[in-house]
Amino acid sequence: MSADAAPHPTPDPVPLTACRGRPLAGRARVPGDKSISIRALIFGALTVGETKIEGLLEGEDVLNTAQTLRALGASLDRLGGGRWLVRGVGVGGFAEPRGTLDFGNSGTGCRLMLGAVAGCPITATFDGDGSLRKRPMRRVLQPLERIGARTLASADGRLPLTLAGARDPIPIVFEPPVPSAQLKSAVLLAGLAAPGSTTVIEREATRDHTEKMLAHFGADVRVTPEGPHGRRITLAGQPELVPAPVVVPADPSSAAFPLVAGLLVPGSDIILEGVMLNPLRAGLIATLAEMGASIEKLALRNEGGEEVADLRVRAGALRAVEVPPERAPSMIDEYPVLAVAAAYAEGTTVMRGLKELRVKESDRLAATADLLRVNGVKAEIAGDDLVVRGAGRPAGGGLVATHMDHRIAMSAVVLGLASERPVKIDDGSFIATSFPGFVELMRGLGAELS
Ligand code: S3P
Repeated sequence: MSADAAPHPTPDPVPLTACRGRPLAGRARVPGDKSISIRALIFGALTVGETKIEGLLEGEDVLNTAQTLRALGASLDRLGGGRWLVRGVGVGGFAEPRGTLDFGNSGTGCRLMLGAVAGCPITATFDGDGSLRKRPMRRVLQPLERIGARTLASADGRLPLTLAGARDPIPIVFEPPVPSAQLKSAVLLAGLAAPGSTTVIEREATRDHTEKMLAHFGADVRVTPEGPHGRRITLAGQPELVPAPVVVPADPSSAAFPLVAGLLVPGSDIILEGVMLNPLRAGLIATLAEMGASIEKLALRNEGGEEVADLRVRAGALRAVEVPPERAPSMIDEYPVLAVAAAYAEGTTVMRGLKELRVKESDRLAATADLLRVNGVKAEIAGDDLVVRGAGRPAGGGLVATHMDHRIAMSAVVLGLASERPVKIDDGSFIATSFPGFVELMRGLGAELS
């Protein structure tokens, strides 16, 4: 096995154009949550027995993770329509893979699997596409090395890299230097194989899907508040994880795109069904409400252990807002589309504390500012803050560089659905990483996309 294997093949670019048209109307359900889908497959693979999953997101990021789990000895069958059956190998039971584990565009898949492999006595090479190869992995490797894993090859803490898992994993107490659910989850996954308890202390709480799923699969995990915004998570090591069915709710980070489009295209009135309202993912809805958006939560209910609702979204005027830095973890993936909403709002919106956006699928801070500017919106980056000067209806007419980033692509499309002139994007192919069927769903609501 070599760490210089060829990178994940880059798909042919698919340019897209979004135009202003009639009001959006009707109902739609966005695909399953990406974070929960990836975790459901990984945890299923760590149980002894069969786990049934419903509503799995069948996007590229999830399918690539599924493929790596097969390479490690788990069996995963697609039964159709988002239903999957996973037969696990147990905690610490992964077999050494023959080839490179290719995660494509998925930072979550890669970082969580680094953790899962770090607790097994095997060696594996991790790789991904051109975007994932640029993203920092050192932040994950550092705690995993404390647990006993060894990084055998990696240029500059990036992919491709080869990791030798620990023979005798050591439980650690870890305080992530940045708020990151991926980092927290990698350490907890590695901690599953260690004797004694592994503790993660977060200064700022991040999405809690890993903790919830650990409990769901029978692990002994305790979560207590820590400081004003943080949490302490303590996991008892070496549990036998027991299979448990998983129902994946609709992804709020995907719902964000039709939701903001519904607010911006004049006269729109749409319903987005079954959107997950986990409080650690709900920052966008809170912020849009402060901007005066009309978002009604209908038929509140529980799906798969999460509160969900049908969201009725009606277009209307928005006002600028200041978004505090402590809200970032609960809407980290939603800033590009919030910036688009801010471009249509009255006044200057300031989004503070966006440092982590620089290390997403692209430098999202720069890509977001560029996508606005090229369409006639005044936007500046001030330190780690993004400042957007709203002016009613943006001119549009720009060609947006998407940098292999699905969320930049979808945000630019949303901008173009209400701007004076059409907005073009250079490549919509990466939308399939998180939101297969995006173009069809938007067209179903009446959007003009070509
Ligand atoms: C994710 C965590 C976030 C988010 C990503 C999904 C997860 O990343 O941006 O899309 O599922 O844990 P970070 O943990 O790096 O902030």
